[in-house]
Amino acid sequence: MDLYEYQARDLFERHGVPVLPGIVAETPSEARAAAERMGGDVVVKAQVKTNGRGKAGGIKRVASPAEAEAEAARILGMTVKGNVVKRVMVTPAAAIAEEYYFSLLLDRSTRRYLALCSVEGGMDIERLAAEHPGSLARIDIDPRVGINEAKAREIVTAARIDPEIAPAVAEAVLLLGRVYTEEEAILVEVNPLVRTEAGDVIALDGKVTLDDNARFRHPDHLDLLDPASSDPLELRAADKHLNYVKLDGQVGIIGNGAGLVMSTLDGVADAGKTRRIRPANFLDIGGGASAEVMASGLDIILADPQVRAVFVNVFGGITSCVEVARGIVGALEAMGDAASRPIVVRLDGNAVADGRRILAEAGHPLVTQVDTMDEAAARVAELAAEAS
Ligand SMILES: Nc1ncnc2c1ncn2[C@@H]1O[C@H](COP(=O)(O)OP(=O)(O)OP(=O)(O)O)[C@@H](O)[C@H]1O
Ligand SMILES: [Mg+2]
Repeated sequence: MDLYEYQARDLFERHGVPVLPGIVAETPSEARAAAERMGGDVVVKAQVKTNGRGKAGGIKRVASPAEAEAEAARILGMTVKGNVVKRVMVTPAAAIAEEYYFSLLLDRSTRRYLALCSVEGGMDIERLAAEHPGSLARIDIDPRVGINEAKAREIVTAARIDPEIAPAVAEAVLLLGRVYTEEEAILVEVNPLVRTEAGDVIALDGKVTLDDNARFRHPDHLDLLDPASSDPLELRAADKHLNYVKLDGQVGIIGNGAGLVMSTLDGVADAGKTRRIRPANFLDIGGGASAEVMASGLDIILADPQVRAVFVNVFGGITSCVEVARGIVGALEAMGDAASRPIVVRLDGNAVADGRRILAEAGHPLVTQVDTMDEAAARVAELAAEAS
């Protein structure tokens, strides 16, 4: 999950990284009020999850609250690389003496972290790497150790930061390293990290990508999900630790394991080709799912009004077909008349005979059991086409 700059700023602040105050505004008058509180000399910054805001005109320094209001009116609603600006952050203008670049990222090829640092910050990293390759220090970090004081010093020395300010920059780098490890990020980038005229070091911008696979260890990260840009069902699924993805067809798909779910998508797309039937969404209940997980999965899939038919495709490994069957029956019972769309179920593997029997005995009129995946895909495509 990528964070907005204001969210990265908050996270930095919590870990002691020096940042400037920031107030988020959704309207020009809120921006004006924020600028008033900050004394008028502020920067109005578009909050979008992409780079190049400055170049697109989404970052503006102003001298008065009235100007802040006018700039916010211009910036709110503009698009930066296809992203509509819904919020701005108002922050005091800093007297910048120097701009540095710092980032820490996961290097999958070496299975280590990589720190990048340069005295020539402010511009985009690709250009920096291309135009001043020598100025970009690359320091390999052992993930078991992270950035300790010695590493932080090594990074700023390699980047040839002025020795006078180097200790303060190293301190910021150390704290940013802590943000990275403690929050389980896969990217922390600060461009620019500045030295002010007064000799302070401040993170003036922040890009953070959190590791979604570690989200279960950070319940507070759920609050960082963007309610405006995420599908409400995706939020509901994330809340239950289910992987749900919205698509734009007509068939809801539930499976266990990414591989099976992907091939189920292909199967449905193929079977529905001639009728223009495609997957509407998919949800992976993962391994070892309980009846409760299965039921909440079905609940989420059926909450999508575009779904005309559902395909539950489970190959029981650790997951028991009994739990899946119980989950389906339980969810349908709980929904009562609200469950109006047909469900095609293909079960195989662990406890398949018992699972099939539970579904057969429940005899719910909406449920059809099919033995093979291809036949099930064909059946669900047919049902979805009939329902349109
Ligand atoms: N609070 C501030 N005070 C003074 N100048 C600022 C402030 N914030 C940003 N700037 C100036 O604006 C430039 C661009 O700001 P910032 O890095 O936040 O956005 P950006 O790099 O254009 O956007 P992106 O990171 O999306 O590419 C900075 O390099 C800095 O010179
Ligand atoms: Mg920047």
